[in-house]
Amino acid sequence: NDNLQVNKTGHLTIGGVDTVELAEEFGTPLYVMDESKIRQVCQMYKRSIDKCYGGNGLPLFASKAFCCKEICRIMKEEGMGLDVVSGGELYTAMQAEFPAALIQFHGNNKTQEEISYALTCGVGHFVVDNLTELRLLNQTAGKMQRKANILLRIKPGIDAHTHQFIRTGQIDSKFGFALETGEAMEAVKAAVQAENLLLTGVHCHIGSQIFEVQPFVLAAKVMLGFMRDVKAETGLELQELNLGGGFGIKYVETDQPVPYDQYMEQVSEAVHTCCREYELTPPKIYMEPGRSIVGEAGLTLYKVGAVKTIPDIRTYVSVDGGMTDNPRYILYQSAYEAVVANKVDQPADFEVTIAGRCCESGDLIQEDARIQQCTPGDILAVLSTGAYNYSMASNYNRVPRPAVVFVRDGKARLAVRRETYADLVHNDI
Ligand code: LLP
Repeated sequence: NDNLQVNKTGHLTIGGVDTVELAEEFGTPLYVMDESKIRQVCQMYKRSIDKCYGGNGLPLFASKAFCCKEICRIMKEEGMGLDVVSGGELYTAMQAEFPAALIQFHGNNKTQEEISYALTCGVGHFVVDNLTELRLLNQTAGKMQRKANILLRIKPGIDAHTHQFIRTGQIDSKFGFALETGEAMEAVKAAVQAENLLLTGVHCHIGSQIFEVQPFVLAAKVMLGFMRDVKAETGLELQELNLGGGFGIKYVETDQPVPYDQYMEQVSEAVHTCCREYELTPPKIYMEPGRSIVGEAGLTLYKVGAVKTIPDIRTYVSVDGGMTDNPRYILYQSAYEAVVANKVDQPADFEVTIAGRCCESGDLIQEDARIQQCTPGDILAVLSTGAYNYSMASNYNRVPRPAVVFVRDGKARLAVRRETYADLVHNDI
C-alpha cells in the first residue's frame, strides 16, 4: 500500500503522518482516512469513465461504504455523484451541501417518508426496486407536483460470488426485477404509464469484492440486451445505464484485484459492441464503486491491552475496540493485515489472534495474524479498514463509536468526533 511508510523511529505513517502520534492526539480506537488516496481513486474513475464513454458517464460513490459529511464534501469537490440507500445517508449528503441532482436513491424498501424527503431534496434519480415502490413514488410525486427520474433495478441473473461465477436464470435476490419472468418488462411498461415518473434507464449491481472482469462484462451485455428488447417492444430507447459497483480491493497479500483500467476498458468495449449490434444510441453510463474508493485509504488504530497465551493453542492480543468498530470478521471472517504501529521495523514473528473487547467469543479482528512482538500499551494498526467499518459500526455493549480523522500532506484533522457516554444515553428517556 503506497500511502503507508515507516519513519525513522520505526513508526507506521499514513499520508505523511505518524500513526503513533495520531493515537496519542486523538485517542484509540481511531479510524484514519488518507484523503489524497481517496481523491486519487476518484480522479482515476472520472478519467477512465470519460475516456471510455466519451464524456458520457459519471462515477457515483456508494456512500454505504463510508458515510459522513466530510466524505460527501470530498466527493462534491471531486465531481463525483453519490449513491444513497436511506434517508439517513441522504440527510448526511444534504448537510454537506452535496448537489442533490447528482444523487441516486437506492433501496428495496424505501418508506413513504424517505420518498417524500428525497423528492423534497430533489434527488437526481430514484432507483426503483419493485412495483410497490413504483406506485408509491408515482403517487407521492403526483401529490407533491413533481416528476421523478427513475432507473429500474434489474437482476441480470449473474452470481459473481461463487468460485467460478455463474449466469443463472432466476437469481435468488431480494433486489430488483427479474428478467426471465417478464417482470422487468412489465415494470418498464408500468413506469412508462406512470404520469409522474420519467423512466431514463436501468440499473444492475452484481455483488461486491469481485476479482474478475467477466461477470461485469456479461452483466453489461445482459443489460444492453434488455434495452434492445425494451426498444423493440415499447419503442422506448432508454438513455441511461448504471452498472453498479463491486470492484475488489487488496486486504491481504493474496488478494489480486484487477487493475481498474482493465475493468473499464473491457466493460466499455462490451457496451460499445452491443450498442452497435443492437442499433442503440450509447447510453450514459453510471458506476457505483464504494469499497474501492475508500477501503485501502483507511486504517484503524487500537491500543493493545491484555496479551494472553493459551499454551499450545494460541495467544490472544486484546485491543480496545473490536466488532463494534469492525464487524467484518464476525460477519464474514474477512481477512485483514495488522502491524504493531510503533514497531513496524521489527520482524513480524508473533502469531496471534487479535481479539476485541466485547462480551462475545466471536469478537475477533483476525485469527492467525503475524505481527511484531507486542506488549500492553503498544499501538496496533489494522489495514484497509476504510470501507464498511465505520459505516457498519455499532454501540454493542454500549461501546462509543471511535473518532474519524482525515490525513493529508502530513496534517491530520478531525472529521467525526468520538462518541461520549453522554451520546450513548442521549435518546434514553
Ligand atoms: N451499488 C449497489 C446497489 C450496492 O448494493 C453496493 C454494495 C454498491 C453499489 C457498492 O459496492 P462496492 O463497490 O462497495 O463493492 N457490508 C459488505 C458489503 C456490502 C455491499 C452492499 N452493496 C462488506 O463489508 O463486505
